[in-house]
Amino acid sequence: MRDPAGATVLVGGLTGGKVIIRHRLIPELVGRRRKGVCPRGVPADRAARPRVVPNRARAGPGLHSYGWSTARGHRALLPSSALPTIPVGTGRAGATGRRPAERPYTTGGRPRVGGVTKHLVTGATGFLGSAIVLELLDRHPYDTVTCLIRGSAEGLTTHLWNCAAAYGRAGLGEHFASRVATITADVTDPRSLERITGRFDAVWHSAGSLRWDEQAREQTTAVNLGGTANMVALARRCQAQDFTYLSTAYVAGSTGRPAPEVPAAAQAARSPYEASKIGAEAVVLAAEGPRCRILRPSIVVGHSLTQAAPGTRAGFYGVVEILRRTARRGDPGPALLDFRDDAVTNMVPIDTVAREAVDLHQAKAFGIFHLTHPEPIGSQDAVLAIAEALGLPEPAFGTPTRPRDLAMRRYLDPFLRMVNHGGNRFERRNTDQHVQPIGHPVLGRRQARELAAWYLAQAG
Ligand SMILES: NC(=O)c1ccc[n+]([C@@H]2O[C@H](COP(=O)([O-])OP(=O)(O)OC[C@H]3O[C@@H](n4cnc5c(N)ncnc54)[C@H](OP(=O)(O)O)[C@@H]3O)[C@@H](O)[C@H]2O)c1
Repeated sequence: MRDPAGATVLVGGLTGGKVIIRHRLIPELVGRRRKGVCPRGVPADRAARPRVVPNRARAGPGLHSYGWSTARGHRALLPSSALPTIPVGTGRAGATGRRPAERPYTTGGRPRVGGVTKHLVTGATGFLGSAIVLELLDRHPYDTVTCLIRGSAEGLTTHLWNCAAAYGRAGLGEHFASRVATITADVTDPRSLERITGRFDAVWHSAGSLRWDEQAREQTTAVNLGGTANMVALARRCQAQDFTYLSTAYVAGSTGRPAPEVPAAAQAARSPYEASKIGAEAVVLAAEGPRCRILRPSIVVGHSLTQAAPGTRAGFYGVVEILRRTARRGDPGPALLDFRDDAVTNMVPIDTVAREAVDLHQAKAFGIFHLTHPEPIGSQDAVLAIAEALGLPEPAFGTPTRPRDLAMRRYLDPFLRMVNHGGNRFERRNTDQHVQPIGHPVLGRRQARELAAWYLAQAG
């Protein structure tokens, strides 16, 4: 098949009878139903089922891979040549020694053995929680999702619509009315949680505070630690068998060696945020009742194909925001920023996080799992990419002395404490045992610039 630019393309997911490719950005592929040719040249209507086409693993030089589509045809299809992937075999799949063909990508389509799962999700109005809701709706078409929210149901629906559209999955909107319910409560308020009755099979706890600063210590602790203890108690009361807690990879500390997926030491905390997440992990690990998994994403950034990161200003986007504000003040000359040349920043796209989170749930895998990138970007490269997106003069790196640079250093301090060393590497042994070995999109300087540009275009 040829793509719009005339290049030969390799298209996955065309072998299933139900696959409909609908992505508007590739008009030549729209509506191609059962007309594609699977990678081995078998006519689509004779092949049995959707299959994984690992990006780049099968695409040789001159070939572009378009990823894959699900049986429901909701997944965005864009040339992954725009965002190449770590070749399977050198990234995480290589670490486990598994070949992609051994673990076909599984999608929804019919109820799984054991029937329909009732999920309760906190943080669905946020960045990670909403992506998990969408992934569950897409992959498990018979499951229902109840979102524990503080605001209005309309606010949640708007957010989910925005996210689905931004990730190229607008088709999921048709499920919101019938499969998404809301409960109003606050995770820090046990009385509001006591009103929740009934049974849930799986609880996903993604509500949290991302405030790093000392002034917010009390609030951060109340939401992250107190809120998690309350949610564990609620999960037990609702007889949930499966509890997922969204922690952060940065609790694993920075020893210079890849951090293993083991409980974090309290003394590793570099901020009130990390202290609250370490405390919450301990609560989850000690929980009686549901079986628990702790997911530790690194710095979560926008969708690997559309760059969209609706509604977040955390992590990478916090740095974009600081540089943007500085740029607006119009100080002349390049900034001098205190990022070490051996420092790395571990960033992972939101779609990878959501996919791996649901993979782990689906595999009934419990324990601690790093949802991190096997190849972190250099921190200086990430900053240079942001400056490029802002059209700023290329920053220099060193110890700041000018008032403007010292002010930026102060703002960047929480981020620098996290990333300003070479130790942000994380083992993924537990994770790689259970997730689909699809490979990670490359997150280099070009991709970081595109992520920053998406954010700046939205911010206006
Ligand atoms: N973003 C990242 O890069 C990243 C990386 C690693 C780990 N994490 C972890 O992932 C989780 C989600 O992060 P995120 O980026 O999605 O955060 P986010 O976009 O700021 O969303 C936070 C969510 O938590 C909800 N929430 C906060 N306090 C609450 C309370 N007292 N009761 C009920 N809901 C409450 C918010 O609801 P409202 O809309 O009502 O405020 C919102 O839905 C957090 O635990 C975070 O530590 C995030």
